[in-house]
Amino acid sequence: MYDNNPTLEGLELNKPLEEFRQGEALGLENMEQTATGKKFYIESYGCQMNFSDSEIVASILFESGFGLTKNFEEADLILLNTCAIRDNAEQRVRNRLKELKIVKKNKPDALIGMLGCMAERLKTDLLEEEKLLDIVCGPDAYRDLPKLVGTADEGQKAVNVLLSREETYSDINPLRLDSNGVTAFISIMRGCDNMCSFCVVPFTRGRERSRNAMSIVAEARELFERGYKEVTLLGQNVDSYKWEHPETTTVTNFAQLLAMVADVAPELRVRFSTSHPKDITDEVLYTMAKYDNICNYIHLPVQSGNSRILDLMNRTYDRAWYLNRIDAIRRIVPDCGLSTDVITGFCSETEEEHQETLSLMELVQYDMAYMFFYSERPGTLAARKYPDDIPHDVKIRRLNEIITLQTKHSAKRNQDDIGKTFKVLVEKTSKRSDKDMCGRNDQNKMVVFPAENIHPGDYVHVKITSATSATLIGVMV
Ligand code: SAH
Ligand code: SF4
Ligand code: F3S
Repeated sequence: MYDNNPTLEGLELNKPLEEFRQGEALGLENMEQTATGKKFYIESYGCQMNFSDSEIVASILFESGFGLTKNFEEADLILLNTCAIRDNAEQRVRNRLKELKIVKKNKPDALIGMLGCMAERLKTDLLEEEKLLDIVCGPDAYRDLPKLVGTADEGQKAVNVLLSREETYSDINPLRLDSNGVTAFISIMRGCDNMCSFCVVPFTRGRERSRNAMSIVAEARELFERGYKEVTLLGQNVDSYKWEHPETTTVTNFAQLLAMVADVAPELRVRFSTSHPKDITDEVLYTMAKYDNICNYIHLPVQSGNSRILDLMNRTYDRAWYLNRIDAIRRIVPDCGLSTDVITGFCSETEEEHQETLSLMELVQYDMAYMFFYSERPGTLAARKYPDDIPHDVKIRRLNEIITLQTKHSAKRNQDDIGKTFKVLVEKTSKRSDKDMCGRNDQNKMVVFPAENIHPGDYVHVKITSATSATLIGVMV
């Protein structure tokens, strides 16, 4: 099966998941009853990686005797898995903590813990600032949580914010929270070595490390056997995935990993996020083109359309390089869906430089974009070196211009799909009406259509009849 991929020789791809893992594959249905009778509640903020980490945390706590509850008022342990990417992400968590004060009034023994990137960034300062907190635990210390809970139970504040160079939690079987039973995330690496000047992630997540390729394939296979039809491989920069087999010293790169996961089953769709413009290779694009079940969709954050700003951001590519990568995508994966991230009002950005972001968007015509105004993060290179000198109202005005343009492009890209027929993986009943189902096409666009006797996990063909800037609407054919 991997004959055209000589470097994969010697990898034991059929090794069962149990050899990597302790613990059974758990469904939420058996989650509420536990030996100790104690229950935890978890809330996640930030990126998909944080949501994926919460599933690891849930698994660790379950193994140590905690049941899960979706109602924080009945929890003995309340956890917030936090994000530090922008100031407003942290403010949201601080406001949530204020709301949780009521918990301690009603249930004085309940413990409150902060996990994730904000915990890692602020460390013990948090215990001073937020008196409500009993536990502070960083993203590489989740195995220590049961012990931290024990310490907090004895009335002491408990902290572990040690970062690791090895931890990938590859032997832990994530407990799929809020699962639709159809799509799941698989974390393939942790941390980031890129040091973009605006970004706090290298400080909150530590050094980049890739997870055992065989454990990733085993996790995908196990999900497929349990009825899942789509996996999204997650990392801050998936294109720099690189794992060396400890015995054979065979090295697996991202393109090879994609092929290995795609080979699990033709009915298992494979997605990935996030790609970095400096690292995405033609080999990855050719692998996408070769496999029908690798979705034709790439999230390729540009951040700015101006080369001077990209240099200040330490993105290590310029406008021409980025546009060259877009050309390669259009050439090798012609019908590829494309989305991006944009930051407006980065340090010293001029009006002309902002215009270059708009003109790049005109050239690329993204299907979708996540757009932000620059938020200075303490400790980052930009915070230390460049004044945050674009007035707030200018940042917001530029952001609004970008949002307006993107909304136009999203609507246009969706209009262009009218009349086309797409293979859709059904995820759930539509929010609009219980007679409608919805799911995504290959390009990651949400498609809504009337359906009878169709179930989550089914593949259907839908002809698009109308569209908004956010959704395609159609009928089954
Ligand atoms: N690893 C991904 C990005 C992860 S963070 C990549 O390199 O593309 C997600 C997005 O948040 C970034 O792409 C960026 O657009 C935005 N972001 C990060 N730091 C920010 C900051 N300080 N202010 C505003 N937006 C920021
Ligand atoms: Fe942050 Fe850059 Fe790493 Fe993305 S690649 S997580 S933006 S440092
Ligand atoms: Fe936020 Fe941490 Fe993700 S800062 S975006 S939760 S890696």
